[in-house]
Order: sequence, then C-alpha cells, then structure tokens
Amino acid sequence: MTAAFHPTDPGLQWQRFCDLLWFDDGLGVWLDVSRMAIAPAHLESLRPRFAQAFDAMAALEAGAIANADEQRMVGHYWLRAPELAPDAATAKHVAAEVERIAAFGREQLAAHRFTDVVWIGIGGSGLGPLLIVEALGTVGRGLPFHFIDNVDPEGISHTLAALGERLRTALVVVVSKSGGTPEPRIGMEQVRRCLEALGGHWSQQAVAITMAGSRLDQLASQQGWLERFDMFDWVGGRTSITSAVGLLPAALLGVDIHAFLAGAAAMDCLTRRPQLEDNPAALLAAAWFAAGEGRGLRDMVVLPYRDRLAVFSRYLQQLVMESLGKRVDRQGQEVHQGLAVYGNKGSTDQHAYVQQLRDGIDNFFVTFIEVLEDSGGLPAINGEQPGDVLEGFLQGTRSALLEGGRQSLSITLRRFDATALGALVALFERAVGLYAELVNINAYDQPGVEAGKRAASAVLDLQQRLDGLLADGEARSLGELQQQLGTDSPESLFWILRHQAVNDPALQVQGHWGQPTSLRFSRA
Ligand code: PA5
Repeated sequence: MTAAFHPTDPGLQWQRFCDLLWFDDGLGVWLDVSRMAIAPAHLESLRPRFAQAFDAMAALEAGAIANADEQRMVGHYWLRAPELAPDAATAKHVAAEVERIAAFGREQLAAHRFTDVVWIGIGGSGLGPLLIVEALGTVGRGLPFHFIDNVDPEGISHTLAALGERLRTALVVVVSKSGGTPEPRIGMEQVRRCLEALGGHWSQQAVAITMAGSRLDQLASQQGWLERFDMFDWVGGRTSITSAVGLLPAALLGVDIHAFLAGAAAMDCLTRRPQLEDNPAALLAAAWFAAGEGRGLRDMVVLPYRDRLAVFSRYLQQLVMESLGKRVDRQGQEVHQGLAVYGNKGSTDQHAYVQQLRDGIDNFFVTFIEVLEDSGGLPAINGEQPGDVLEGFLQGTRSALLEGGRQSLSITLRRFDATALGALVALFERAVGLYAELVNINAYDQPGVEAGKRAASAVLDLQQRLDGLLADGEARSLGELQQQLGTDSPESLFWILRHQAVNDPALQVQGHWGQPTSLRFSRA
C-alpha cells in the first residue's frame, strides 16, 4: 500500500480532513484519521477484506466459535445488548446479573457498612476496574479503592499499611476468571491473614468474581462469602470491563452502570455499520493497517488529554497487544503479528518522549484523545483558562507531528462521563476485532500469557522441591541439585537460590556468585 500522506500541503490536508472526518451527534464523538497514511483509494483497496471482516464479526456476534483455539464463543457484545445473546437463557442471565450488581452497589453504599474496597485481580481482572475507578471515580462519591494486582511483597505491604485499621471494615473483591491464577490467590491469602488479625470477618466481607465452578468459585461457596458474581466462559479478561469486572467497581463508586452499558451499546450499533467510511471502528482498523502496512510496523502512542484517562493508555496496551500479538494466523502459518501500544497523557508527555516522536525514528502513530467539556471549575487567571491551554497544547503537538511528517489520529469527545467511557471502550474493542480479521488472526486467545503462567508454575514447583531437598542440611553443588531434582535448568536453580540467599538467613552458600559452578548450598 502506497502512503498517501501529504503533511506539507495545508490545502490538501484540509480536504483530507473534510473527507475523512467521522462524527456522531448522539454520542458526541468525532474521529479524524486524515493525518494517517490512508486515502479514499486505500479504503477502496481494503473494501473486500472489510466485507469479510464484517461478516466474521456478524458471525461472532451470532454465537460462532470465534475463539477456535479455545473452542469458545466470544460474547462481550452481549453484555450490553443481552437480547443479542444466542439463546434466551443467556440473555436472561446477563440482564439479571446487571441488576444484581446494581442492587448490590446501591445496598452497600446505603448501608455504610464498608469504608473501603480492596480489589485483588491481575491483567483483565485488574486493569478494567482500575480504568473505571480512575476515569469515573470522583472524590467523596462512592467507596475508596485499593488495588492489589501483583505479588510484589513491598507493594502488598504498602497497600496494607496504607489501609491500616480500615482493612477491618473493607469489602474485599477477589477477581479471577479462571479462579486459578497464582497472583490473586497469593494476594488474597495475604489480605485475609491481615484482615483476620485485625478482627475482621472474611466471609462476611469477601466477594468473588469468577467462572462458575472454578477453584475460586468453590472456595467462595464452601466458605459462604458475602456474594459472588459471574464471569462468563465467553468473555475474555481484556474485554470483561462491561461484565461484573467493570460494573461492580462502577456500582460501588455510585456510577450509573446502565449509562456505561448504554454508551458501549450505542457505539456497538455504530460500529456494526457495513459501510467502511460510516464505521468508526473500521476507519480505525484501516488506519492502523495502513500505518503499519498490515504487519504492525508502527507502534501506537496513546495520548489522552485528561488526567483521568491516563490509565486508558495501559488499558489499551493490554486490549490491543494481548489480542493482536500472535505468532500464527488462523491457518497456523507463522506471522508474528502485533501492534505495540504505549503512552501516558498529554500534555505531560510533551515534556518527555514526544521529542523523539517529532524528530527521531518514525516508527509510530499517535492516538490523541480530547474531551471538549472542561470540568473542575477553575477560573481563568490572567486570561488563561487551563482547559483552553490544554487544547492549545494538543493542537500544538498535533501540528508539530504533522510538520515532521509523523502520523496521528484524533478522537474527540464532547464530554466525558460513563456513557462516553462505554463508547470509547466499545470503539477500540471492535477496531481490534476488525483488525484481527484483516490480518487473519485469533484475537481472543492468549497462548503467550498461558505459556508464561505454565512456566511460572513450573518454577514455583521447583522451588518447593528444592526446599524439600535442602532440608536434610547436606551441601550440594548446582550440578548435584540439578541431577537430584531431575531438572534440565541449572540456571533456574541459580536464580531461585540467588534470591533465597538474600532473603533466607538459613541458606548457607560457599563459592563465588560470579562462578556458578563453584557454588555449594546447604540449609542450616
Ligand atoms: O485478558 C486475559 O485473558 C488475561 O490478562 C487475564 O485477565 C489474566 O491472566 C488474569 O486471569 P484470571 O482472570 O483468570 O485470573
């Protein structure tokens, strides 16, 4: 595809802007892809691929096994339009779950029983809730949130210390679709120990969000936890924000979850349009395809010009990279697809890495996100209104990039609220789905994540067996340990023991750390 990018001709650029600007008055959303390397002729050439992509998305929404590798349906679109679910029982279940979540949120806020929420979950079970809290939380409304999304001992301690006595009166939500991920399980055990030491009552304070029948689900029902909400088999972690995973934090913040779902549903309607130019998700996917030549050769830098949307950059990083970063296509051919995403917020980043974007290596395109309505109630001082200044900086960076021949696209929201967030999320979800069809990959599995989980669990198993072996007090070299444990990785043993040597005073080490074969280990 030949690039059709004319950064230096203002007349032509204005014409492109008028031709390629998409707008929906109902949602108050503009999308401008005119500064990307696409032209009407390119859209023409992509039309046949898009026809297939629209058909594939229609089949997916109708309940096809779109995630063939995991033999699963892909149904996040049903979460905001339950009537589209493939059977009446699912539709009824989804709708009932929304009302149960809304009622639970209302009851907890009215009862003033809990002072805080501790949210334990990683990946899709952590980032969506974090986005909801950062983007829609307002000081003084709803419950304050604390996240445990890692097993960094310092991070967990820090969160527990910051909570202090308030942990005794906190609602603890443990989220894991599979119910078997080690990080949330370990976080949960640490929080539970601390909560009970403070005199709290775990089962009366704990809520689970997980798939029916998972290990976490079984634990929650055996122990009679306060509540449990469903994560459906057909919803992936990274697209779970319109399930209980995103709705529960919203409800506990006092946010109108129906407005959030309505925004997503409205954008779903707009992005089902079969005409490329009328469909904002298709325009986005086409722009990504053109910029990266269908091989992800350009990274996406996300620059939301709102502090509360800074975490949206991280959210998109997971949604896009976990979905599109795949080794093989649907036919099993090696393709190594992907679209790298990074970013934080404007105009802050203008004073950091934007220098390279303007003048350095041209391996990216920027996604600007603007909100027109200014809130915060700050006065103009010396004729300067912070909102106007922010808009000026956005335009400045946009122009500077154009002058440097760098690509960018812009999404503008008339105002930012729960409806707008729902629409924004749904726009990117569909763009990811369409792009995956264009490049013929499964966007809904995550074999790399699963491989990482399996490899980590093998190391955890090795740690335990190593501890058992060293319990006899005998000194052994890495080679002897390797042989006796039947592992093919002395390097893994080296890593485990190096970490333990710093933290476990009972581990005796002889030899030199720079010469691994000289080392001998024993436990006193
Ligand atoms: O999007 C995904 O599928 C992953 O990021 C998962 O959300 C993450 O690995 C956590 O998994 P689980 O919710 O099963 O604990």
